[in-house]
Formats: sequence, C-alpha cells, structure tokens
Amino acid sequence: MLEGRKILIGISGSIAAYKIATLTRLFVKAGAQVKVVMTPAAHDFVTPVTLATLSKNPVNTAFVKNNAGEWTNHVELGLWADVFLIAPASANTIAKMAHGICDNLLLATYLSARCPVMFAPAMDLDMLAHTATQKNIAILQGFGNNLIEPNSGELASGLEGKGRMAEPEEIFQCINSFFNKQQLLKGKTVLITAGPTYEHIDPVRFIGNHSSGKMGFAIADAMAAHGAKVILIAGPSSQQAKNTHITRINVTSAAEMFEECLKVYSKTEIAILCAAVADYAPVQVSTSKIKKAGNLLNIELHQTKDILKELGKLKKKKQLLIGFALETDNEEANALKKMKEKNLDFIVLNSLNDKGAGFGFDTNQISILHHNGTKKSFGLKPKKDVAQDIVEQIIQLLHV
Ligand code: CTP
Repeated sequence: MLEGRKILIGISGSIAAYKIATLTRLFVKAGAQVKVVMTPAAHDFVTPVTLATLSKNPVNTAFVKNNAGEWTNHVELGLWADVFLIAPASANTIAKMAHGICDNLLLATYLSARCPVMFAPAMDLDMLAHTATQKNIAILQGFGNNLIEPNSGELASGLEGKGRMAEPEEIFQCINSFFNKQQLLKGKTVLITAGPTYEHIDPVRFIGNHSSGKMGFAIADAMAAHGAKVILIAGPSSQQAKNTHITRINVTSAAEMFEECLKVYSKTEIAILCAAVADYAPVQVSTSKIKKAGNLLNIELHQTKDILKELGKLKKKKQLLIGFALETDNEEANALKKMKEKNLDFIVLNSLNDKGAGFGFDTNQISILHHNGTKKSFGLKPKKDVAQDIVEQIIQLLHV
C-alpha cells in the first residue's frame, strides 16, 4: 500500500529522533519515497547523513542549502508530500505548530503543506500532561492534524509514564492504514454544501445566520482524506479547505448555492447538504442603502428554493443523498419527516437542546436516522470526529 507514496518526515529535537532511522528504512523497504526535514535541535540526536543515506534523498535542514545561497523551497516540499509526518514532535514544535510560529524549515513546511499531517509526540510525562501541551495538541487536532498517541513506559528522564513516542512499527502501521483508508472513496465525486447563505436587503445589509461552516468543512476534509474528489459549495465562511482534493466554490445567496449545486449534481455519486440555507429572501433588493424612516420597516420575503428537496427529486438510484436537521422541538419526528419529504438516504440530526452542539461550536452531538428505520446515536465529539462517523456510515452504505 505504500508503494510510490511520498512521505515527508519532520524531525524535531527529542531523544526519540534516533528511531526515525528505523522508521525511514521501513518506509523505503515498503516502496515509499521518503524526504526528511529536520529542526536545528534534531541534529543533536540524529545526523542528516544517516537519514539521507537511508531515505536516499538529501535531508533538508535550513532555509539556505549551501554556500551559494541556494534556497530550500519549503512550499515545494509541502506540495510534494502525500503525508507529512512530524515525528518525534517535541513540546516546543507542537506549541509552535499550534500558534503559527515559523522560525525553522520544518515549521515553514508545516504551514505551507496541503497534505494530511500526522504527529507523534515525544516528551517527558509532565510536559505531556501539562495543560499548555494538552491544549496545543487539541488545537492541532482541531486543524485536522492526526495525533499518533504516545506510549507509556520508561522515559529518557528515568521517570515512568506516558510520553514515549510510538514505536517505528506502530507509526508505520498508522501511515499504512491511513493510505488504506484513503482508497475507500477513491473515484467518487462528492458534493458538499457548507456555511450560511446571505440574502441581500440592500448594498450593506443582509439576512443571514450563525452557521460557521465548521461541520461542512470537517466533512469535506474527512471525505477527501478517504480519496474522494470533493466539490465544496460554501456560503460566506472563514474556514479553510486544505486538502488538494477539495474544489471550493464560494457563493453568497441561496439562489447562487442552488445554481452551483445544479451544475454539478449529476456528476456526483454522493451529496451531503449541510449548509444552513436561508429559507426566505427579500423580494426586492434595494440598489441603494435603505434610509431610516418611521418606527416600523416591513421587508417582504419570498421562500428560497429548498436545494436538498430539489436534489431529492433529481436523485438517481445509485446516488446517495444526505441532509441535516437542526431542531429544537420534536427533534426525531421532524427529522424523519424531512428525510422522507426530501428523499434522503439518511439524515443527520442535531438538537440545539444538546450542550456544545450546533452553530459555532467545535463539537457536535448527532444521531443518524436511516431511511430503513435504523438509528445510531453518538456522544458529544469534536466536529472532525463527527465528520469521520458520518463518512463511515457512507462507506458502509456503499459497500453493502
Ligand atoms: N436545506 C437546503 N435548502 C434550503 C433549506 C434547507 O438545502 N433552502 C437543507 C439543509 O442544508 C439541511 C436540510 O435541508 O441539510 C434541512 O434544513 P433545515 O433548515 O433544518 O430544514 P428546512 O427543510 O428548511 O425546515 P425548517 O427550517 O422548517 O425546519
């Protein structure tokens, strides 16, 4: 499975750096192409010559490569890789990654990499347990980076506890199963809608909602990580799509979102509509700013197209259509009604009554209701993990 895969390894300063020699050998033996980038601190633990020999590629250690002042292109390194593995990831490097600090080549490469990132922490148990480190690890996971859990055992300090970097064989397995997973949706094209829509009232005002787009972008990332080609039609959102398999189309209004969806729907095998589309839009959009006049202002609204319902009408037998329901009352009954009316394969229900779920949060709590009557409920989780649960349901449906 690793044959021809491009693996970029980032080594930071930790005693576990010596284990990367074994890991590099495992990758190369499995047919992967390996390139290495090191922080200055990593040189104290393993030499570039060792890694260059084992990886069969020059090791990148500084922004400037040689006396002639030739530049090491961190952007190229980041674009070259299918996966960027940072191992060992020291507390210092994790902190800098979490906060966008860019004072060495590894960090510059991290900030410019578009591929999935995995990181394998290695440090003393108290450093790992410190709230600052735990928060930084959570930030990286929030960015969609994958944590390779450290092990418990004897540490370089002589103390016993959690903080040992995962063994080379374990990291090798993680990377291998990551690529295995990538294959599951290969060849599938997926349409995802995300974020809010804004319906203009005049040149400065609009009707909108609090959707951040986080859930839809997390699903786009998860689908792309499994090899799907993703068309992400997004309303105004500050979220960033990092994976190169995601094509983002920006829209503002419900009408624009509908138009873009119609253009691509017939070419897709799966559609997941998670945008919080405005149900109503002003009948008249004033071309100049509406001036204050009188105590009351009436704005006449018309219903927008229900994009999900329209796609449900066009749905072919082999297409999967998935919708969301954000409810406050009679949650399940309302969601089931929507699933039926919109011709869905399943609907993802989240209730605004659940703490930590819904607009703006980094977490969500969902139930998945299938059109065959089955129901699966999940606990409160980071949106990235919720996205993974949704993707797994889709994979199950495709493979039965
Ligand atoms: N949806 C859509 N187009 C709309 C409204 C909703 O595609 N104009 C989609 C959403 O992306 C979501 C699902 O329909 O997947 C349910 O949205 P929701 O707002 O909960 O339901 P509505 O059908 O609009 O019903 P109501 O607002 O009355 O609850």
